[in-house]
Amino acid sequence: MARTPIFSPTQLAARAAYLLRGNDLGEMTTAAPQLYPHMWSWDAAFVAVGLAPLSVERAVVELDTLFSAQWGNGMVPHIVFASGVDGYFPGPARWACGQLAADAPIGRQTSGITQPPVHAIAVQRILEHARSRGRSTRAVADAFLDRRWNDLIRWHRWLAEARDPDGVGLITMYHGWESGMDNSPRWDGAYANVIPGRLPAYQRADSQIITDPSQRPSDGEYDRYLWLLEEMKSVGYDDLRLPSAMSFAVRDVFVSAIFALACAVLAEIGEDHNRPHADIRDLNGWAERFRAGVARTADERTGMARDFDLRAQQWVDTETIASFAPLLCGGLRHDQERALLRRLEGPRFAGHPDLRYQLIPSTSPVSRDFRPREYWRGPIWPVMNWLFSWAFARRGWADRANALRQEGLRQVCDGSFAEYYEPFTGEPLGSMQQSWTAAAVLDWLG
Ligand code: SER
Repeated sequence: MARTPIFSPTQLAARAAYLLRGNDLGEMTTAAPQLYPHMWSWDAAFVAVGLAPLSVERAVVELDTLFSAQWGNGMVPHIVFASGVDGYFPGPARWACGQLAADAPIGRQTSGITQPPVHAIAVQRILEHARSRGRSTRAVADAFLDRRWNDLIRWHRWLAEARDPDGVGLITMYHGWESGMDNSPRWDGAYANVIPGRLPAYQRADSQIITDPSQRPSDGEYDRYLWLLEEMKSVGYDDLRLPSAMSFAVRDVFVSAIFALACAVLAEIGEDHNRPHADIRDLNGWAERFRAGVARTADERTGMARDFDLRAQQWVDTETIASFAPLLCGGLRHDQERALLRRLEGPRFAGHPDLRYQLIPSTSPVSRDFRPREYWRGPIWPVMNWLFSWAFARRGWADRANALRQEGLRQVCDGSFAEYYEPFTGEPLGSMQQSWTAAAVLDWLG
């Protein structure tokens, strides 16, 4: 497929910056102008990574807004709603957190679930950029850390305690949206056991914006997503009652790996900035526990990591990008890790001969679950490839990090900044002008 125009790196960076400016509502950057007109938790973290090279001050505002909506129990909610903005469903009225949840914040409208904890990465990037700036910018970053350190710790403690009460080193998710990978085949088995009861009437907003149904979750999937909200509402979003109320409960290996990584990153930040020893000890303890938890899910021979469906009491065997979770946080045996890297770069994933760009697709093209256009069932998501490239650089795998970066930039050089891309043709899909895609590009080009 012919894709024009092709922008130079300088032009691409300028357009990415312009895009973030255009999506900026002042104290939050919408995840995308039409499809996602509010702040999403993990989007906000990636957006802050992209804002940091442009303005440390503005990046700090992004995370401040997110953390100003943190719940009393420590949860960072997956959506912070922009006030007075319509056009997304389910909106604040459907979640009804203000009325139902004792822990919901005052003065902010949010959803009642969470999302992957990538925020420590953003904090680290902000501090790194601040270091190369003048004194006043460094002071802004330091003041941010002073202001939010305890909130970051509360956030991590909530994940470690409320979402892993048995201390197995894996985080439990009660909604597929909490994984960030809404309709990944990882959740097909768990959703098959979600039987929607009487649902209050609703109308999807996403399908008015993305009118090609092959790019979005189906209506049947949406019924289940909405049913889980009703289950949560029935127990007032109470951490202690969710485990028995929810018909969807999975131990998410990808989120657990991100958490292990984020704890390690936050511990490093804490060391560098003289934070309390007790906090650093907790962070290192969680990093260790979750790294081990992730490694225990791995297939003995291939190293592929697996989720665990708590309701069905079974391992989830699907070939998705989440299978590579241990590469983010480490912890595998050496031979397992070699095997997993070979799998990542081989014909079942990034080395598949028909891929237009050698990037990691959300689902393996050889899997029977693969759908090349459908959201998390096959398309390539630039921001996920950014995450792997960043983690690989951190692990000392510079060549691998660079290969993802090069290919990632080639994929987006038409300036569409799409949410995701068709793996074989490179067609931009989903939302255009997606903030986190622009953010990934800005960091790659920085
Ligand atoms: N990703 C979800 C959506 O598509 C919500 O988190 O609306």
